[in-house]
Amino acid sequence: MAEMQTATTIEQLRTLVSCAKKSGSKIGFVPTMGALHEGHISLVHEAKKHCDFVVFSIFVNPMQFGPNEDFHRYPRPLQDDLKLCTDAGVNLVFIPSVEEMYPTGFSTVVEVNGLTNNLCGKSRPGHFKGVTTVVMKLFGQVQPDAAYLGQKDAQQALVIKRMARDLDLPIEVVICPTLREADGLAMSSRNRYLSNEQRSVAPLIYKGLCLLKEDVALRKHESSAQYRLDLLKRLEAIPNGVVDYVEIVNADSLEVLEKMNGIVLIAVALKLGNTRLIDNIIINTSA
Ligand code: PAF
Repeated sequence: MAEMQTATTIEQLRTLVSCAKKSGSKIGFVPTMGALHEGHISLVHEAKKHCDFVVFSIFVNPMQFGPNEDFHRYPRPLQDDLKLCTDAGVNLVFIPSVEEMYPTGFSTVVEVNGLTNNLCGKSRPGHFKGVTTVVMKLFGQVQPDAAYLGQKDAQQALVIKRMARDLDLPIEVVICPTLREADGLAMSSRNRYLSNEQRSVAPLIYKGLCLLKEDVALRKHESSAQYRLDLLKRLEAIPNGVVDYVEIVNADSLEVLEKMNGIVLIAVALKLGNTRLIDNIIINTSA
């Protein structure tokens, strides 16, 4: 197997990717901010199933963090990350600096309207503008055939899919299932911030989502508002948890639903101390 390559500049990246393209490889791309876990690696495995050459980026993107968020303390265990990439069979890791991505005078943004108005877009103003701008840049740099994103960041995945469609990018955006710890907690780079106490109650987020799913199967309520209230109460009972949002929305448009109709996304965000966790499930109410 060929050794994993790394690039820190856009020029190096382009040379290596065009070499792979010349030999006819289909290019898969996994964009990340590092601090890798099995969820990221599952994206590589999916990419490897369908592509011949997998590019993986590690870039903690300052543009998507708010002024009081965790940009500076975001974990950057680069050597561990590179080992995981090697073991997963990544072909090329792109690790640009902030200066490489945002040179002096950088002044362009990419923004998706509508889909970014609620959920995380409401609680983290400017966040998705940062995400779509950096992902658009990465797409332009890598020019992949397909990009792989996790369902855990449901809104992000939909927003990037919409951006690719609206801007006619010839890139298939593939959304892959959320990976969970044995106790149900969705895998996230931010889980490593949790104290033992916080970690022990964090699985209650997913438990709440699963209980809601059971209640929907039993048709317990008429309106989504009542299901939402039940989940809100369960999440508010998590010791030291502060609920940011609980929303029941259409899984494609993210519009708030009055009734549990069609494919429904239940999305939540909750803070445990300084750590903001998100999770979601999708319920197909017609199944
Ligand atoms: O999900 C992430 O890790 C980031 O938001 C992404 C897509 C790599 C853009 O910085």
